[in-house]
Amino acid sequence: MIAPLPESQTPDMDSVNRLAWRRPDTVQIYQRLQGCTDPGEQAAIDYVAGEARTRPVLDIGVGGGRTTPLLKAISADYVGIDYTEAMVLACRRQHPHTRIEHMDARDLGRFTDQQFALAVFSFNGIDAIDYADRHTVLREVHRVLQDDGRFLFSAHNRHGPGHGEVPRLALDFSWNPLKLGWRTLKLVRSLGPSWRNHRRNRTLGQTHEEWAVQNCAAHDFGIVVMYTSLSEQVRQLQETGFKVEQVLSSETGQPVSNEDGARSACWLHYVARKVA
Ligand SMILES: C[S@@+](CC[C@H](N)C(=O)[O-])C[C@H]1O[C@@H](n2cnc3c(N)ncnc32)[C@H](O)[C@@H]1O
Repeated sequence: MIAPLPESQTPDMDSVNRLAWRRPDTVQIYQRLQGCTDPGEQAAIDYVAGEARTRPVLDIGVGGGRTTPLLKAISADYVGIDYTEAMVLACRRQHPHTRIEHMDARDLGRFTDQQFALAVFSFNGIDAIDYADRHTVLREVHRVLQDDGRFLFSAHNRHGPGHGEVPRLALDFSWNPLKLGWRTLKLVRSLGPSWRNHRRNRTLGQTHEEWAVQNCAAHDFGIVVMYTSLSEQVRQLQETGFKVEQVLSSETGQPVSNEDGARSACWLHYVARKVA
């Protein structure tokens, strides 16, 4: 049983998110996931696969191991890491013959400079890290990448439809009475925790034109994440020594080149190459 944060304790983004990731129900969700999350992820993996083939691959924030088979199909020289011990254990159970390590993306000190040809931080995992530490992660990834190495990650879109979510009674209708009953029950059961979490977690919100910190609907409004505009993300990558090669929409899987083109995407997949 994971103890909730005490009401009296002022939450911070990191402790809120760590608590959400290590909950047994969250671990179970990520352990069951399979395949790509969206057409953008599939397109991004296809884009990087050829060049990374048989070369060393680092899978950051591996969770329950959804991406493990997707990336091991590119290269058997693979290591997955996660800072949530329960995720590491679940992932090892799912993929017993695979190297999965307990490690924080902000400190990749156990890896040497230029160790990997490809680093991946999938499913907006980087967004659980605050603005200042995001720079630390970008710098660490840059360090462990080979000179022509690539970083593939996804990030919530500051100007996308997902920004500013609040708990609401929205039922995914079905004509099947069993499905409809089950969905109604699930919705009603999640509304209480969602409102409680939202009331607490929204206090951590910050809104700026190019980025925001917001409580997000995932895990009953249990996490607080960064939303970054396309131009701000490109700026951060360039500042750290990356050249952005592709930005792909989560909705269409198509490349986007500006904020207007990205507006329908809840999140964006970035493929960036290390500039030596
Ligand atoms: C949204 S889940 C995605 C899990 C998996 N990549 C997937 O796509 O199914 C984000 C994962 O990133 C991990 N994570 C978040 N911040 C991290 C950090 N600083 N270092 C390592 N892992 C982190 C969390 O523990 C969680 O397992």
